[in-house]
Amino acid sequence: MKRSHHCSELSLSHIGQTVTLAGWVASRRDHGGVIFIDVRDRYGLTQIVFDSEENAPLHATADRLRNEYVIAITGTVSVRPEGSENPHLPTGSIEIRAKTLELLNEATPLPFAIEDDVHASESLRLQHRYLDLRRPKMQQLLQLRSQVSHLTRNYLHAREFVEVETPILTKSTPEGARDYLVPSRVNPGEFFALPQSPQLFKQILMIGGMDRYFQIARCFRDEDLRLDRQPEFTQIDLEMSFVDREDIMQLIEDLIRLIFKETKQIDLPNPIPRLSFEESMGRYGTDKPDLRFDLPLQDLCQFAKTCDFQVFRRAVESGGMVKGLIIPKGAAFTRNRIDNLIDTAKEFGAKGLAWVKISDEGQLDSSIAKFLKTEALRSALPSANPGDLLIFVADQAAIVHQVLGRLRLLLGEELQLIDRTRWEPLWVIDFPMFEYDEESQRHVALHHPFTAPHPDDRAFLDSQPLQAKTLAYDFVLNGFELGGGSIRIHSPSMQEKVFDLLKISKVEAREKFGFLLDALESGAPPHGGIALGLDRLIMLLGQTESIRDTIPFPKTQKAQCLMTHAPSTVSPEQLQELSIRTTAKKPTATP
Ligand code: AMO
Ligand code: AMP
Repeated sequence: MKRSHHCSELSLSHIGQTVTLAGWVASRRDHGGVIFIDVRDRYGLTQIVFDSEENAPLHATADRLRNEYVIAITGTVSVRPEGSENPHLPTGSIEIRAKTLELLNEATPLPFAIEDDVHASESLRLQHRYLDLRRPKMQQLLQLRSQVSHLTRNYLHAREFVEVETPILTKSTPEGARDYLVPSRVNPGEFFALPQSPQLFKQILMIGGMDRYFQIARCFRDEDLRLDRQPEFTQIDLEMSFVDREDIMQLIEDLIRLIFKETKQIDLPNPIPRLSFEESMGRYGTDKPDLRFDLPLQDLCQFAKTCDFQVFRRAVESGGMVKGLIIPKGAAFTRNRIDNLIDTAKEFGAKGLAWVKISDEGQLDSSIAKFLKTEALRSALPSANPGDLLIFVADQAAIVHQVLGRLRLLLGEELQLIDRTRWEPLWVIDFPMFEYDEESQRHVALHHPFTAPHPDDRAFLDSQPLQAKTLAYDFVLNGFELGGGSIRIHSPSMQEKVFDLLKISKVEAREKFGFLLDALESGAPPHGGIALGLDRLIMLLGQTESIRDTIPFPKTQKAQCLMTHAPSTVSPEQLQELSIRTTAKKPTATP
């Protein structure tokens, strides 16, 4: 029996027609002599009626159906009796009065019910992903993902971009994570690395004259997983020759606006606002601020310089800073709640958290009361009101920003300051080229080592590299970094200088990036590009909490696939073939 329609297609205009549907039994209701089956496919649900008075043997067969059995039915499209319509269902005005039923397959009892408000743990869902994927929510997310890829491809093809596949078995492409390695059988003791991004290949494609490249590219990063990270994820990756950063930002803004409009009828602002890295850090303590609420960081350095509290004064005198947050109506916080806030601040890296309550009458109650002059505080924080709670962190800038940036987000959530109906995209630009890593005692690239310095800042590279800014840009939406890119270095001597500054020796640079340096010497055009995280984009667009919901077969926080049980041990013979001996688990043959 071949289906004539899908399960969301039939309506009053089909009344009287004989149709065939196929799908899964979504639910079965037995009303004495009448059995109602909802049959489900990717498109929706249709109600089938088996009436014992019309056809007793058929009714008896239907009685054996259980949830998730796969069936095909032929029947007549009929109007639902008055009062039994379902206005929430596109097929809610009709039902099919069954004439034949074919049982295509049975299903064992399910570990969880296929419904959107699923009650199963995520690990159970991931273990039985084939069932989880039948849930309408998962189906919609995967369709949204496909739609976004399709829109992206059309948009870029229309603008002369060429879709090129770059290798998966390759050499390390540094994006700041650990590599996944693949042993080479024919070159014993040697390894491929899986790409952390197509970065080097896309630059080489520009040198190869491709002019405009894109790829919906799989990337692999062995890093600690978070809610918005997967070890294997997808980028909308592109690169262009003979462009400046405005060209790339404009192209991406238009693409993202198109995606939001076409898929969700959402109008994103035009143009998309911009913040410099410095402004973003200073005001929100992060380079990916959530602008759906305000709660800005308050600068108290001037106040700190003249106040009597040693901790504040010393922080500023030693090159650090004092900043705070004004928590609206926070004076009502209990001591316990404030203590929790202090503990959280310490977890985030603060040495302490000073606080001041302003009572409704304007009285101050504070952990540092004896050091405070009410007037000085009032003029330092003119926007603080009676009923507010002020919190302060004194430390080196990086710590102050990290702690208050994270507290800002936490309080935004707790106090329900975040307007979930808002979409707040922005560009963060003018990133510093380097940051100093205390642990390894050297400069590290804030983006990657192929990012071009801002033309005005080239001189800083020799004198004060930490002052040098780049031609990099990040696209941020509702507090998530959706994408990042830059204009690249196209001069071999500049690339070598940057490797030098990063303390990558000439030998190491040759060994790791010799092919890039050679390519740069062969007539490299000025070029730049960007990569957007497709999974994160779908997570935001599809309004789901976990990036795992946007990936058909994702990994857990421990980077495992619960369905296939990857990674797993391999046979001793396989290891021997690869000239590998492990020191971890004893290798056993996997069944
Ligand atoms: P970057 O490392 O910023 O840049 O990556 C670009 C975007 O990819 C997404 N992303 C991730 N998504 C899910 N899981 C992960 N583990 C993960 N890591 C990154 C983010 C991020 O903004 N080659 C450069 C781009 C360029 O310069 O053109 C790059 O990879 O959304
Ligand atoms: P103390 O004098 O150490 O008892 O600290 C007095 C108050 O200042 C306490 O509320 C501490 O949490 C707070 N405090 C201590 N160190 C800092 C700091 N680096 N930044 C902000 N507040 C601090």
